[in-house]
Amino acid sequence: MSNTLQPVLVLNGPNLGRLGKRQPEIYGHTTLDELAAMCVGWGHALGFAVDVRQTNHEGDMVDWLNDAADKDIPVVLNAAAWTHYSYAIYDACAQLTAPLVEVHISDPSQRPEVFRHTSVVTEHAVAVVAGKGIDGYQEALSILAREVGAA
Ligand code: DQA
Repeated sequence: MSNTLQPVLVLNGPNLGRLGKRQPEIYGHTTLDELAAMCVGWGHALGFAVDVRQTNHEGDMVDWLNDAADKDIPVVLNAAAWTHYSYAIYDACAQLTAPLVEVHISDPSQRPEVFRHTSVVTEHAVAVVAGKGIDGYQEALSILAREVGAA
């Protein structure tokens, strides 16, 4: 590993700003701030400088993904509900040049709402981590480390 940390984006979509308060029986009690601190620590151990972001605005997410494409930055993406229907997110993910890992706290494929069983992200991802709670973000970062040879 070189001394320079590899930049990585951990991007979170709508309603994930309410982690800890939002349906804790599904998403747990960890807040977004706590998740962000953990991701920074996990990433640092893997040689990454992790920048954790969350937005409820689709255009912001598209801008961040476009910027990651321009700068060749690996991405961990929890696109939340956009996962299931946003072709803008699909098109933005298609342009990424560095590896993308899709992450979900719950396992959408096992949930009762049929709309959750489709993902526009998966086609562009090197891996999907779902149903592992907050720890899934650590697994996603480890997968990225293997993919980019940082660890
Ligand atoms: C989610 C699953 C999605 O179906 C849902 O819309 C979310 C969160 C997850 O992390 O489990 O907002 O992506």
